[in-house]
Amino acid sequence: MCGIVGYAGGRQALEVVLEGLARLEYRGYDSAGIAVLAGGKISWAKRAGKLGNLQSALAEVPPPAGTVGLGHTRWATHGAPTDPNAHPHTDCSGRLAVVHNGIIENFADLRRDLLARGHVMTSETDTELVAHLLEDEMEQADGARPSLAGAMRAVCRRLDGTFTLVAVDVRDPDVVVGARRNSPLVVGRGNGENFLASDVAAFIAFTKEAAEIGQDQVAEIRADRVTVTDFDGAPVRVRDFTIDWDADAAEKSGFKWFMTKEIAEQPRAVADALIGRVDRDGRIALDEMRLDDEALRAVDRVVVLACGTAYHAGLIAKHAIEHWCKIGCEVQLASEFRYSDPILTRSTLVIAISQSGETLDTLMAVRHAREQHSRVLAVCNVKGSSIPRESDAVVYTHAGPEIAVASTKAFLTQLVSCYVVALYLAQVQGTLYASEIAEVLGHLRRMPDAVEQVLGLMEPVRRIARELAGERCVLFLGRHVGYPVALEGALKLKELAYMHAEGFAAGELKHGPIALIEPGLPVVVVVPSPGDMPVLHDKIVSNIQEVRARGARTIVLAERGDAKVAPYADTMIELPPVPPLLQPVVATVPLQVFACELADARGHDVDQPRNLAKSVTVE
Ligand code: G6P
Repeated sequence: MCGIVGYAGGRQALEVVLEGLARLEYRGYDSAGIAVLAGGKISWAKRAGKLGNLQSALAEVPPPAGTVGLGHTRWATHGAPTDPNAHPHTDCSGRLAVVHNGIIENFADLRRDLLARGHVMTSETDTELVAHLLEDEMEQADGARPSLAGAMRAVCRRLDGTFTLVAVDVRDPDVVVGARRNSPLVVGRGNGENFLASDVAAFIAFTKEAAEIGQDQVAEIRADRVTVTDFDGAPVRVRDFTIDWDADAAEKSGFKWFMTKEIAEQPRAVADALIGRVDRDGRIALDEMRLDDEALRAVDRVVVLACGTAYHAGLIAKHAIEHWCKIGCEVQLASEFRYSDPILTRSTLVIAISQSGETLDTLMAVRHAREQHSRVLAVCNVKGSSIPRESDAVVYTHAGPEIAVASTKAFLTQLVSCYVVALYLAQVQGTLYASEIAEVLGHLRRMPDAVEQVLGLMEPVRRIARELAGERCVLFLGRHVGYPVALEGALKLKELAYMHAEGFAAGELKHGPIALIEPGLPVVVVVPSPGDMPVLHDKIVSNIQEVRARGARTIVLAERGDAKVAPYADTMIELPPVPPLLQPVVATVPLQVFACELADARGHDVDQPRNLAKSVTVE
């Protein structure tokens, strides 16, 4: 949510910042802007709409050359996505520029005060007031002007809410200053150059050496050094890390969309999520797990917290945890958790699932759980992000960078990682025999191949998606682990195709949703294996007959050779046979392809759907 880049070094700042913004555009695309320091002045440009609008403006009127600068892509919170509300924002004198990600909650009081003291605001944003607060700090009455970092620390102490702020000032021309509370900020360490960014993707083309900026810290970057302090100015030691993927991983590599590329990468991503999970004795070993077995043996309840697609991974994980570990598991939307008066104890294990590791709803829920003395295990894709940093333990999903806003490979790796965590818990608690764990692991190892098989059978899915491009509504049905798959299929279609789509537990159909069925309505049904789940299979075949009897057009995802359901499928999408609990790994893939193709057919930007952002760092 909002992408931020800052640069100080020997290259042209404009080029570095634009390259970074292109890689961060997935975080928000309501507007884009840059500022460059050159010749004792700040030059800035900003435009509503996608980065392309800014690039066109800069091609017409290029800013002067300079080697210190910053940039921003916006996901609008305060103020509509217009040119004046685009970042950067400047103070009354135009001597400093600031960009922001987050929401400043005491905005109204601070703005009233600044206006009363004669400051002139030109936007509706909460960000602009930071520029004016910095201006006040830089122009103190006694003339003792602080450094830009000192001014930033003083301003941050007055702000409530969530923010990443990055600023430049002509009076401190070699430095870019960043600050963070709850929103992400990382440092990239180069050779004679340094970077500040919301996400390492912004500088991966220049360096793989990075450093985490902690909560309530201020970072100053110059070409030759990085200095980090807390908001009171005390120096802090940062944790350095090396990025373990290449710039190519964040390129489209010939695919039309990042989403199509990320769907195609799923066999490899699933395989990577499983690497190193089993030791020489065949026992599950989780490297990044920092919870000891004694603590895990005491766990008597699991609470899974997540948002969006990650929440659907949690709903599937619940089945695995309850089935293999015999421990009660509930799954909660992280955004609702803190307000629902949750009952947590020291023996509750909280599992927080997040691709980005920065979703503020999930981060706040994690903090709440830790305050209640529960142990928190993060299942996360982005190394060094806030959620794993603030959890007791982490299992990284190793999906690699996911750029498309709609989550695909991250979801599949969340599933696989949750299965492994559930098996680990079962191993520690002794609820499964070693031979049973080994059998499931064997099935998991065959999942990359199963996903590859599904990807090879997607032509009918693409065809039906294009046929349905003119429809207004699609329903998705499933039972057991197929129900969260149905929810995920519906979410994907809403996100990408802007169609009304709902996922229902197929058994609930008769209790209300069946009233929606009318002739021709497309209904997608996820069917469990007839061999492994015969009773549930029969029930869902009946549910399909019920909607067909009312004229629905049925698109059925079922195991290869499922002759019982075939007569009731207008379109049959075959899935390779896999154990029932693992079926979501293969069944989700056609629904991703379906939504992607349908959105493309409707002429939408598949990677950057309207109003969305990949990483949502506001509550
Ligand atoms: C946003 C994205 C979703 C994502 C959700 C949770 O809403 O648009 O695709 O599932 O955040 O993100 P996380 O990074 O916590 O998995």
